[in-house]
Amino acid sequence: MNIREVIMQRKSVRTYQEEIVSKELRQKLENYIRDVDTPFDTKKIRFEIIDINNNKKDMKLGTYGVIKGAKTFICAVIEKGNGYEENLGYAFEKIILYATSLGLGTCWLGGTFKRADFGKTVGLQANEFIPVITPIGYPKANRSLLDTLMVMAAGSKNRKDWIELFFADDFDKPLKKEEVKKFEEALEMVRIAPSASNKQPWRIVKYKNTFHFFLCRNKGYGKALGFDIQRLDMGIAMCHFETMINELGYLGKWDACNPGITLPERYEYIVSFTIA
Ligand SMILES: Cc1cc2nc3c(=O)[nH]c(=O)nc-3n(C[C@H](O)[C@H](O)[C@H](O)COP(=O)(O)O)c2cc1C
Repeated sequence: MNIREVIMQRKSVRTYQEEIVSKELRQKLENYIRDVDTPFDTKKIRFEIIDINNNKKDMKLGTYGVIKGAKTFICAVIEKGNGYEENLGYAFEKIILYATSLGLGTCWLGGTFKRADFGKTVGLQANEFIPVITPIGYPKANRSLLDTLMVMAAGSKNRKDWIELFFADDFDKPLKKEEVKKFEEALEMVRIAPSASNKQPWRIVKYKNTFHFFLCRNKGYGKALGFDIQRLDMGIAMCHFETMINELGYLGKWDACNPGITLPERYEYIVSFTIA
């Protein structure tokens, strides 16, 4: 499968077969996780695979009934206080896409899991925090009732139109597909990315060969979580954009070069990607 196919195939899986992930696939995941790359240089993230079958005590690991049947989870553990969000979003989505390419189901969980349970299992240190986890396993053919309700509540099957997300030069001018032919698919992979509650907060302004990424914040959203979940969404968008750009045969780099354009209310500049 190429990266485009993997991105198109990924969807949140909340209902799993009771079967444990095979040793072979687990080993592949472990190898991948160890070396997964991040756009910015920080080593303050670790990923732990938890096999809840190995230890009776762990059987209580809670997801409020949202996840059914999964025996294995990947936990993202970060050190509090460093700007980790885009890095984590990017790296965790890479892991999610890799698992998808292995035929495994995943589901980003930033809200509906019991942090204390998972914290105990990974041996959380005082300066550490678990922003997100994902179950890993073989998808069941039929969704549980709660899974179906979650999909409906978030409108998970819908995505915003291109015209709402991508702009030329500034936010007054929607970007036409003809203007960006070579890179169209990279933007399309951002458009279909997952995001917390399917809010799709990413906006991109193209200027010459640079794509400026902005966050359109949903007021008050995620406040109670204690971390900036919408910046994780930005990392996911960066992951989809860069991996697709690379697959199209282009290279480039991430940089902070704020174009200083007028921003609509609740928009924030995040980062820019310049094609080499
Ligand atoms: C950062 C992040 C956090 C999420 N947290 C949860 C969660 O706590 N519970 C849940 O059921 N789904 C969660 N999701 C899944 C989203 O609801 C889902 O990605 C979105 O509705 C789009 O659906 P899809 O993944 O099937 O394409 C999260 C997704 C992201 C990206």
